[in-house]
Amino acid sequence: MARANESHVCQSCGAVYSKWQGRCDDCGEWNTIAAEAGEAGPPGSLGAGKKTKGKIVDFTTLKGGGEFEPRLLTGNAEFDRACGGGLVPGSALLIGGDPGVGKSTLLLQIAAGVAKGGARVAYLSGEEATAQIRLRAQRLGLDEAPVALASATALRDILATLKADKPDVVIIDSIQTLWSDALPAAPGTVTQVRASAQELIRFAKGSGAVLFLVGHVTKDGQIAGPRVVEHMVDAVLYFESEQGRAFRLLRAVKNRFGAAHEIGVFEMTGGGLREVANPSELFLSEPGEPAPGASVFAGVEGTRPLLVEFQALVSPTTFAAPRRAVVGWDNARLSMMLAVLDARCGLEFGRHDVFLNVAGGLRIAEPAADLAAAAALCSSLFDRPLPKTHVVFGEVALSGAIRPAPQAEARLKEAKKLGFKGAVAPKGGDESPIPVTCVETLGDLVQWVRCADG
Ligand code: TYD
Ligand code: MG
Repeated sequence: MARANESHVCQSCGAVYSKWQGRCDDCGEWNTIAAEAGEAGPPGSLGAGKKTKGKIVDFTTLKGGGEFEPRLLTGNAEFDRACGGGLVPGSALLIGGDPGVGKSTLLLQIAAGVAKGGARVAYLSGEEATAQIRLRAQRLGLDEAPVALASATALRDILATLKADKPDVVIIDSIQTLWSDALPAAPGTVTQVRASAQELIRFAKGSGAVLFLVGHVTKDGQIAGPRVVEHMVDAVLYFESEQGRAFRLLRAVKNRFGAAHEIGVFEMTGGGLREVANPSELFLSEPGEPAPGASVFAGVEGTRPLLVEFQALVSPTTFAAPRRAVVGWDNARLSMMLAVLDARCGLEFGRHDVFLNVAGGLRIAEPAADLAAAAALCSSLFDRPLPKTHVVFGEVALSGAIRPAPQAEARLKEAKKLGFKGAVAPKGGDESPIPVTCVETLGDLVQWVRCADG
């Protein structure tokens, strides 16, 4: 029986229903709808309870307003890069990630870095006791940093403290642990998470503090995903890692003050997170004899060029339906590439099992990776190693034509920096830091692979 003041809220997207149902119509997630008592009040209604008349708001112009406050640098180049070049005062950032990926560790290091730079930092943890955080800080050698540390989960207390203390940077670890006594819903529910985030963001905008919210991402939707918060904050950064690997990517999926898809690369070590200033080296295989089926893709993540190795294995199949497996690239994209190679270049991938892997555990989503994948596939099919001195990039159309890739110059510069001697790419600008072998169709690439001298 549903109680009178009970509503059913999707724990993934926050959609409200009058009765329970198995699937959320809004976000399509299954089994995420749960009964919650009451509804969130309007922002700022905490404890107010009285109706007042609206005030007239003053309009201003786009121009003027004097100097902007400079961005706050954290002293961590990778983090600053992912944020679009430092922290903007008065902004709210959401750091999402799986449990155990290192969100608390990263933010503790950032807190210490900012505090050492002279800013006032408040670190509020609802997950760990202060003693546990101190222990971690000691292990990371950060216990001297002047960070104000507290363990609290009551939103009212936190807001009162922040209003009295006026820190420059506030870190809330995590948003799911906060609860407001003005709402009857349980902590961790969408209603609570949304209301808490709203109040804290209001505080940040009003006071000019930088607000970090940590949010857990859970697959089963038991705890409110930070999805609802994503719309409210200025930047959403995802901290990701491939299972069983030490490196971590901080990826900006939304940023009102910088480029989205910007990445910062870290490595988890015994002494905390270490910045990886030159990630291309991480994703390229060891030097040595070139092997068939390997090609180097000159990619770009955000504004950062990144070289990654594609590895393919093509072998005659014994099955009626050949096997296709891909790690780090899109499955549908692989099928498309194989179909185009078969149809336009007369190759016979249909009779082969195909395995494709992106080295280092990175996931590539760029269309410009098509050509590098095709090069790796052909190299394995012909059993001809590609020269280790060349990078490959370009988007492949269904017709087999190669389309230019954005930021070609940045890719070529990075390749040159890492000692590559040439590139295979669609026709681009006039000047190039390294010689480019221009390919106009997929046939040209196949020809290049056939004649390649590995
Ligand atoms: P943590 O920051 O607690 O993750 P989150 O807040 O995202 O849940 O990090 C937990 C993991 O990081 C844990 O498995 C241990 C590892 N770790 C290290 O490897 N080295 C370190 O110096 C620290 C502090 C943690
Ligand atoms: Mg944590």
